[in-house]
Amino acid sequence: MTTLDTGFAADAATLWNDPPTLPTKWLYDERGSKLFDEITRLPEYYPTRRETEILAAHSVDIARRTDAALVAEFGSGTSTKSRLLLTAFAHRAALQSRSLRYVPIDVSAEILTQSSHDLSLDYPAVSVEPLLADFTEPLGLPSSDGPRLAVFLGGTIGNFEAAGRAEFFGRIADGLAPGDFFLLGADLVKDTGRLVAAYDDKAGVTADFNRNVIEVLRVALDATGLYPDDFAHIARWNPGEHRIEMWLRTRRDVDAYFAALDRNWRLPAGAEILTEISTKFEVESLESELRSAGLAQEALWTDSQEDFAVILSRR
Ligand SMILES: C[S@@+](CC[C@H](N)C(=O)[O-])C[C@H]1O[C@@H](n2cnc3c(N)ncnc32)[C@H](O)[C@@H]1O
Repeated sequence: MTTLDTGFAADAATLWNDPPTLPTKWLYDERGSKLFDEITRLPEYYPTRRETEILAAHSVDIARRTDAALVAEFGSGTSTKSRLLLTAFAHRAALQSRSLRYVPIDVSAEILTQSSHDLSLDYPAVSVEPLLADFTEPLGLPSSDGPRLAVFLGGTIGNFEAAGRAEFFGRIADGLAPGDFFLLGADLVKDTGRLVAAYDDKAGVTADFNRNVIEVLRVALDATGLYPDDFAHIARWNPGEHRIEMWLRTRRDVDAYFAALDRNWRLPAGAEILTEISTKFEVESLESELRSAGLAQEALWTDSQEDFAVILSRR
């Protein structure tokens, strides 16, 4: 197991739900994280390019508005876009002869270790302090003698159901002190064809990313009779919930045995497992959710196509 192994056996209980489902975090073992990184460079996957455009245009302003001494990023992954923020914050800290701390937080150990190592080399003046942790659980942010900025990029907020999202915003607000900041990147509702294509690319990288969770299951639960190729990748827009859903559909009857649980998992051909949701937002409803959590909006930026939004709010 290469991700943070927080109760896999307990999480796996949802495999027997109707429909079967799994927490998103299990998509991000070492291979899954590398595949996601590949996805961010695919022509169909617009979110990374749009959010990069926003951060490139506004990172200096974000550093000026927040003056943060500590930047903590949830689900940091490769921290590629975070470099735009770090460059702006490090420059500001140097001008003011202050120190800057960056705390990347992720469940994927390898990607966290590698990106932290690379960042330490590229930003020698920044103290990089990686934290292997699950952001769906309570987590105290490190204290700091200056303002703190919590960051959540990539549209990862869309992976929560509405109730989980409210809890997450509540935890963020509770973890911040008055005067600290929260920077959120969120994908916006748009043309369904573009949305589906972003999660079902021609090269099949997203399909591999999705099917990889079967291999994660096989290894973590010591399974027999479980093969990624027995599952087809499905990306579907759910108009009622405003979200893209990724499913795996069985191509034939599956009869697996999880030795770690001493339990069989049987699915008929054509059965579907929900592996990821990615909610797309209307700006107004997101603003109101943040407000309800006690996070007051300071600024909102969108890209030139109005595909993606980045919201800065203050506790
Ligand atoms: C959609 S990717 C976004 C990565 C990066 N922030 C970006 O914008 O490209 C989600 C990231 O969150 C991490 N992640 C997923 N679930 C997590 C959880 N429950 N706790 C901590 N990290 C998680 C994954 O390992 C992955 O790096």
